[in-house]
Amino acid sequence: MKMMDRTVSVEIDRERCIGCGACIAVCPSETLSLKDGKAVVSGSQSLSCGHCEAVCPQAAVSVRALQNDSLDFQTFDPRSNWLAPGAADVAGLVQLMRSRRSCRNYRDRPVPRDALQDLVRIGLTAPSGSNCQPWAFTLLPSRQAVVRLGDMIAAFFQRLNRTTDRSLLRQALKLIGRRELDFYYRNYRDAAVEALKAWEQTGRDVLFHGAPAAILVGVRPGAACPGEDALLATQNILLGAHAMGLGTCLIGFAVSAMKNDPEIRKQLGIPPGESVQAVIALGYPGREEVYQGLPGRKPLVSRVWEPPPEKSPNEGRTGG
Ligand SMILES: Cc1cc2nc3c(=O)[nH]c(=O)nc-3n(C[C@H](O)[C@H](O)[C@H](O)COP(=O)(O)O)c2cc1C
Ligand code: SF4
Repeated sequence: MKMMDRTVSVEIDRERCIGCGACIAVCPSETLSLKDGKAVVSGSQSLSCGHCEAVCPQAAVSVRALQNDSLDFQTFDPRSNWLAPGAADVAGLVQLMRSRRSCRNYRDRPVPRDALQDLVRIGLTAPSGSNCQPWAFTLLPSRQAVVRLGDMIAAFFQRLNRTTDRSLLRQALKLIGRRELDFYYRNYRDAAVEALKAWEQTGRDVLFHGAPAAILVGVRPGAACPGEDALLATQNILLGAHAMGLGTCLIGFAVSAMKNDPEIRKQLGIPPGESVQAVIALGYPGREEVYQGLPGRKPLVSRVWEPPPEKSPNEGRTGG
């Protein structure tokens, strides 16, 4: 499947259509228009977003590209009625968001594969640039798989430390604008050395915190906004996991290693060109991970901008 696939796969049932125009009003790419009092496909491109299908009061529209089992959840009964703006419980939503905490203590209990599959389905519900839906998820369903990835990441950081310990090389790269090595050396190198020592000498896992499973959130080549798409799906997964009783922790060190070392991606069966944007350690939270409350946040930075008084020619026009 091409990433920017704009093929039109909308079908209109003319018998059912009453010509209300609702599907046309919500279409982002002028795929549909009204002809002789009925909706017709008149554009040559479609985002396949499904707005037309979801808005039609007559069930007269179907989008073939969306007829599949991508959202067949296995571990819970999904509700498929649409919630209008304002209909959801905002207090409950914010409580869920605040209750999700990075989990660094896991029980020695495997995560069922169905739960992992449902989590990546939850990831799929995120928005994506040009509706590319470019995600590719790699599931590590066992502790053994997580440890094997940990070994590869440890080897990557051993090599990186050997490179950054050469101060002349660091300075030279800084001079040509490659400051990452110097940044790493100043901020993370010592912690990485300690973590590697613990991993090798005692098996203590300060990278994945002993997690029995992991999800790698990847993006296939050609996406319009790969970083944003991946992180939106990731946040959905983190929240979904908390609701499902699972603890999660993002592992930035693993992302750095996987972005910079194509051999690790190859070993995990990730095709060339596909990037790894997030690594989520997950599992059932240990006894230590019980909180008594919800802490605050650092000071809010927020500003309001109002335009200067000159009038724009567009003021007063409607959005449609
Ligand atoms: C991009 C990113 C990378 C992170 N990498 C790590 C990591 O490598 N190891 C870790 O223990 N936590 C990692 N975290 C978790 C943060 O430390 C954590 O989100 C933060 O301290 C706030 O705590 P909370 O998630 O419990 O609210 C990462 C978080 C983000 C957003
Ligand atoms: S929303 Fe449904 S009924 Fe209304 S014009 Fe479109 S296809 Fe016809």
